[in-house]
Amino acid sequence: MCGIVAYIGHREAYPILIKGLKRLEYRGYDSAGVALLNGDLNIYKKKGKVADLEDAVKGKDVKGSLGMGHTRWATHGEPNDVNSHPHLSQNGDIAIIHNGIIENYATLKEALIERGHSFLSDTDTEVLAHLIEDIQKNTGAPLEESVRLALNEVVGAYAIVIISKNDPTKLIGARKGSPLVVGLGDGEYFMASDATPIIEYTKNVTYLNDNEIAFIKEGKLSVKTIDNVEKTPYIQTLELNLEAIEKGGYEHFMLKEIHEQPRSIYDSIRGRFDPTLGSFAMRSLKEYEGKIKNLKRIIIVGCGTSWHAGLVGEYLFEDIARIPVEVEYASEFRYRNPVINEDDLVIAISQSGETADTLAAIELAKEKGATIFGLCNVVGSSIPRASHAGAYTHAGPEIGVASTKAFTAQVAVLTLWAFGFAELRGKATKNDLRNAFAELESIPQKVEKTLKCEEQIIELAKIFKNSHNFLYLGRGYGFPVALEGALKLKEISYIHAEGYPAAEMKHGPIALIDAEMPVVVIATKNDIYEKVISNIQEVKARKGKIIAVVTEGDDKVKKMADYCIEIPETKEYLEPLIATIPLQLLSYHIAVLRGCNVDQPRNLAKSVTVE
Ligand code: F6R
Repeated sequence: MCGIVAYIGHREAYPILIKGLKRLEYRGYDSAGVALLNGDLNIYKKKGKVADLEDAVKGKDVKGSLGMGHTRWATHGEPNDVNSHPHLSQNGDIAIIHNGIIENYATLKEALIERGHSFLSDTDTEVLAHLIEDIQKNTGAPLEESVRLALNEVVGAYAIVIISKNDPTKLIGARKGSPLVVGLGDGEYFMASDATPIIEYTKNVTYLNDNEIAFIKEGKLSVKTIDNVEKTPYIQTLELNLEAIEKGGYEHFMLKEIHEQPRSIYDSIRGRFDPTLGSFAMRSLKEYEGKIKNLKRIIIVGCGTSWHAGLVGEYLFEDIARIPVEVEYASEFRYRNPVINEDDLVIAISQSGETADTLAAIELAKEKGATIFGLCNVVGSSIPRASHAGAYTHAGPEIGVASTKAFTAQVAVLTLWAFGFAELRGKATKNDLRNAFAELESIPQKVEKTLKCEEQIIELAKIFKNSHNFLYLGRGYGFPVALEGALKLKEISYIHAEGYPAAEMKHGPIALIDAEMPVVVIATKNDIYEKVISNIQEVKARKGKIIAVVTEGDDKVKKMADYCIEIPETKEYLEPLIATIPLQLLSYHIAVLRGCNVDQPRNLAKSVTVE
């Protein structure tokens, strides 16, 4: 949700900012803007993509070694040039960029208007720039102190960066609820929403904590809280490399990320189990073994695709470890006064580790005494830091807005956890673990093999690209896969799609089925195979077009379905890891054929840091 990048040092800032904004564009792409200080404070901003900003800026003065850039996902005020960031204070001396929402902006704005301020935009952000200036004028405090005092008046979430025409050696950033990382180079500093704009220049970074302000002043970094307590920044060295955040020859990040799944699944399970010994070695959970043995219930919270991974988790933990599980949309959980006990384990799943609703759900559960395990992909993000323990998924940076490799990585780790928990609770033997882990180890190759169906999927995409609706059906472990398939299709191709438990279809959605309706069915050979076949018959009887995902060598469904995509056989509980792949490819190719922007679908953003 909005991308922020800033630079102070000895190089020209503009190229660093533009490159950084392109890397952050996945966070929002309604508008983009930069502010550059070179004697004058020059602001350039434009509705649309970073490329539109670049066009608009051609031939203009973009000099300056202090600057900041912003790519926006609109919250307050429609996406247009005026509402784009950066925003200026009343006298135009202070510029600000912001990711988040200032909830009390209307009250602050009213008070500022009474004091003679006038505003150009509809944004909450502009109010903060005016407030800082107002405080500076009334107190005579330096810029950094005025920022601190202003933040004490703000309610809401923010990552902000501020520069001022009158302070050419200062760069100030602060965070509460939205991420901000500071990069420390050789005589230069960077600030950004994530590390991707920074790693080309330095791997030394510090992640700000909530309520912290970073001041770069005359070449030195200091950090303090908004309550004026000095902090020693924790500097860490990033392992991220540049290659991981580039397209590597693929047309889109999404396609690259789909094809990376054999590796990302492998990386997410590697070193965490021993298939020969049947042992589970998730060191980070070691001190919680007693808790795991005695817990009464698991509550899984997440949003979107991560919520779908949570649903697979529900099947896994109940089926394998015999622990009752509830899977909750984080956004509902946080507001419905849920019953949470100290014996509960809350598993928060999030690719970005920054999703505001998931973070709020964690805070609520923590207050009530539950133990929190975070399962996230972005190292150093807020959710792992707010959790008691957990694991990273090691899927590598996911830049396509539609989540693909993060989902399978989440499911892979949840599978390990389910077996690890089962062993601790006496529900699985070493031998069960040996068998399960041996099969889990073979999944990356099976995914590799499944990816070979791409040519067939392209042909299917050509046939169905103009459909107006799609139905996705599955049962058991196939149900979350169906939901995920439908979500992928609607978010990147804008075709309406519904995921349903196959048997539930007859309670309503069956009314939609006619010869125009493609129905994607997960019909792999498992315990409920025969039941799914009956559901396929029901669709066929109404002339629906069946696209079935079947187990290699299947001949029964093949006789009924209009199209079959074969996937390698595996254990039922591992099927989501494989069956998801053709559905990701189907949505990708349909979206490409429809001319959609696959990596940056309309209205979406990768990291949803607002409610
Ligand atoms: C779907 C998608 C979203 C995210 C959701 C949660 O492709 O990307 O539905 O899954 O916004 O995001 P994270 O996992 O970052 O918490």
